[in-house]
Amino acid sequence: MSDGGDARKPLTKLVQAGRRPEWTGLPGQPGGIVSPPVWRASTILYDDVAHLRAATTNTHERLFYGRKGTPTAWSLADALTEMEPGAAGTMLFPSGVAAIACALMAVLKPGDRLLMVDSAYDPTRSFCENMLKPLGIETVYYDPTIGAGIAELLTDKVRAIFLESPGSLTFEVQDIPAIVAAARARDIVTLIDNTWATPLFLPALSLGVDISILACTKYIVGHSDVMMGSVTANEALFAKVRQTAWLFGQMTSPDDAWLAARGMRTLGVRLKQHQDSALQIAQWLGGQPGVARVLHPAFPDCPGHDLWRRDFTGSSGLFSFILAGGDERARAELIDGLAHFGIGYSWGGFESLALPVDPARHRSATRWQAEGPIVRLSIGLEDPADLIADLDAGLARFRAARR
Ligand SMILES: Cc1ncc(COP(=O)(O)O)c(C=O)c1O
Repeated sequence: MSDGGDARKPLTKLVQAGRRPEWTGLPGQPGGIVSPPVWRASTILYDDVAHLRAATTNTHERLFYGRKGTPTAWSLADALTEMEPGAAGTMLFPSGVAAIACALMAVLKPGDRLLMVDSAYDPTRSFCENMLKPLGIETVYYDPTIGAGIAELLTDKVRAIFLESPGSLTFEVQDIPAIVAAARARDIVTLIDNTWATPLFLPALSLGVDISILACTKYIVGHSDVMMGSVTANEALFAKVRQTAWLFGQMTSPDDAWLAARGMRTLGVRLKQHQDSALQIAQWLGGQPGVARVLHPAFPDCPGHDLWRRDFTGSSGLFSFILAGGDERARAELIDGLAHFGIGYSWGGFESLALPVDPARHRSATRWQAEGPIVRLSIGLEDPADLIADLDAGLARFRAARR
């Protein structure tokens, strides 16, 4: 289990985590390599039948069969566990959505009710409607700003509360400790999609959340070339998460795990740069004609800004801005002509992206109303001055099209 009393700072852990001697060296030889290498395997060979039979009794972090992983994946999972004080272990998945799905399946059963934040990533909602509902698991959506008011929704049927903070389109920050306190009082499980902050900016299990989920596809990998998800759980729930992942046959390829582990070593410097550039650009955008509002947790007018200040240690590179008036066509004029921003799904890579988003389509408990269409930006590692000049020209196109 990752030690809450570990004195090492998170940046030091990022460098050292998951590099156990048995994964970087050869038995009986001193020293070793820096990074655990790629161990590819399906079949594992045993000395004899007795060893083959004995191996089935404990298959966690033991060479057993390729689907249970090799040291490449164990090392990455271990590193993610080390980054979350209070965690008992981490399972890896072929995408963030697979991780979310498995975590929910691990804690819910027919007849249960799930409370889902209304600002959740749309495919998370789709999983609830198209997979959980037919299984007899009901989802009730709640306002992201509900805070301690969540207690009013807690009945004997409620088994789990899912948080995503901030929401990845509209960036409301949730009152995590208040929701956790209400949940704990009734023995209800809490899960968080922590992709935006990563454990570096929000060690969620330290705040009492039971399960922390990452779309590693974003900042952990950081280079837009691997799909991956992770579920990190506390002592009470890790065995259940692991069993569910195994039952569904979930795993990641060793090559992808290796790329993700490589990405993770530089997470600290990348996130710092993403943060600084995003803040600079968001600040600039806030003063521009044609921009009604910037939605960024580090800005006072973002819902839950005070909670962000209290609970998070930083902000990453993803935020949105609301245009002042205009329509779909005027927004497309802005985005289509951008030279330094790609147009595409996902975020958290080294390259900047711009995306038209329409939150109203993905709400049911709350109503999304804004002054105009929204653009979401994932700020990459380019020089922010270039990005600002690009957006400046884009806003001029928007204003011309809006007239
Ligand atoms: C907040 C959030 N969670 C989860 C996911 C899913 O991750 P993946 O694309 O790896 O399935 C995404 C993807 O965009 C996301 O934005």
